Amino acid sequence: MSAGIKLVAKPGEVEFPKGMEGMISRESTKSFVNGAEGFLCYNGIPIQQLAENSTFEEVCYLLMYDALPKETELAAFNQRLLQYREIPDFTYETIYGMPAYTTHPMAALRTAVSTLSLFDESSEEDTPSALERAGINLIAKLPTIVAAVARSRQGLEPVHPRADMPLATNFLYMYTGEEPSPLYAKVMDIILLLHADHGCNASTFTAIAATSSLSDMYSSVVAGICSLKGPLHGGANERVMRMLNEIGTVDNAEPYILNAIARKKKIMGFGHRVYKAYDPRAAILHGYAKDVTRQAGTEKWLQMAEIIERVMIDKLGKKGIYPNVDFFSGTVMASMGIDPSLFTPIFAMGRVPGWVSHILEQRADNRIYRPRFIYTGPMDVDYVPMDER
Ligand code: SDX
Repeated sequence: MSAGIKLVAKPGEVEFPKGMEGMISRESTKSFVNGAEGFLCYNGIPIQQLAENSTFEEVCYLLMYDALPKETELAAFNQRLLQYREIPDFTYETIYGMPAYTTHPMAALRTAVSTLSLFDESSEEDTPSALERAGINLIAKLPTIVAAVARSRQGLEPVHPRADMPLATNFLYMYTGEEPSPLYAKVMDIILLLHADHGCNASTFTAIAATSSLSDMYSSVVAGICSLKGPLHGGANERVMRMLNEIGTVDNAEPYILNAIARKKKIMGFGHRVYKAYDPRAAILHGYAKDVTRQAGTEKWLQMAEIIERVMIDKLGKKGIYPNVDFFSGTVMASMGIDPSLFTPIFAMGRVPGWVSHILEQRADNRIYRPRFIYTGPMDVDYVPMDER
């Protein structure tokens, strides 16, 4: 591809899409996003049908194996997830040894997930079955790590995983120490399912670039976590909640957002590199937000969010700026009593099957990622000895 492109040039002399916008990195069967139409499917199944009928575990299987499981296949897959839920003592000790009040939750997640490979005797085994097993291990263990990080930050002992409830339910149980209501268990499952995959987003691209050098599954997933930690990718829902709390009242929502738009501020939870229409995941979460805020008594947040949504679409919809997945997920999770600092680690919990499935897909037909830079530095420069500088 770079053949014929001027690789040594003056700054700005050669045109290329910044942020690799619109560039193709590989073929994939995992998910497709039609940004103009606000459409998302996993292996051909529209996200609305999956939210309506599937579960997070079944979606993990769909993404990893490109097919919905038969009952026996799903039962076997669930059994593997169950047996991998518990994390090594060393991982608990690492989490509880971190400075609880100053450690960024995504830094805690990145560090704790890194310890998992030390206790997987086949973590360096470069075979499809070892990679697959490591991926399932990560999907199963992230909720246990995120719940332990949350409790350590509150000065609470960890609650160990149980084997008698689905992954999303078990996460809320480990986080609060109590079994969640059926509504909250269902909504957490939906939140994870909606975050499971999303084309070649920054963290997925980071993960497949890492694995393309034949780096192991753990390292490649940690690379994805590192990318998701960035505020342009993860954490927007946490900042949405900060914005709602700053606005304070329903009456102040419209003046606040009009003022922010006038000052050309980027409003968190809006805009997207691919979606230039309503993010279908936001629409699904908006639906659940009505039930959750009613049960939690936080309807005020939803009213504020709906005013912000109306004004933003009115003012910026013509520029393709619409709510993205982060806009309502914050309201929903905060209403469920989840601390906003946990929102991005929960996004990571949901996205692990996407990272894992793309890593496996990359490995099945691999070539190391090696793009080029346009060199705009000086040329033909001689070395200058220190005493002549
Ligand atoms: C996720 O890639 C994925 O798939 C990501 C994700 C996934 O599932 O993995 O969907 C998850 O990351 C969702 C996005 C969460 N981030 C935010 O909500 C942060 C706020 N959003 C923006 O920072 C921004 O919209 C991005 C980063 C999401 C996308 O930015 P782009 O494509 O690089 O667009 P841009 O910054 O070049 O902006 C283009 C124009 C600009 O206006 P002009 O200078 O042309 O006049 O749109 C404006 C921007 O000012 N704009 C916004 C805006 N986002 C873009 N204006 C107001 N508010 C916003 N949020």
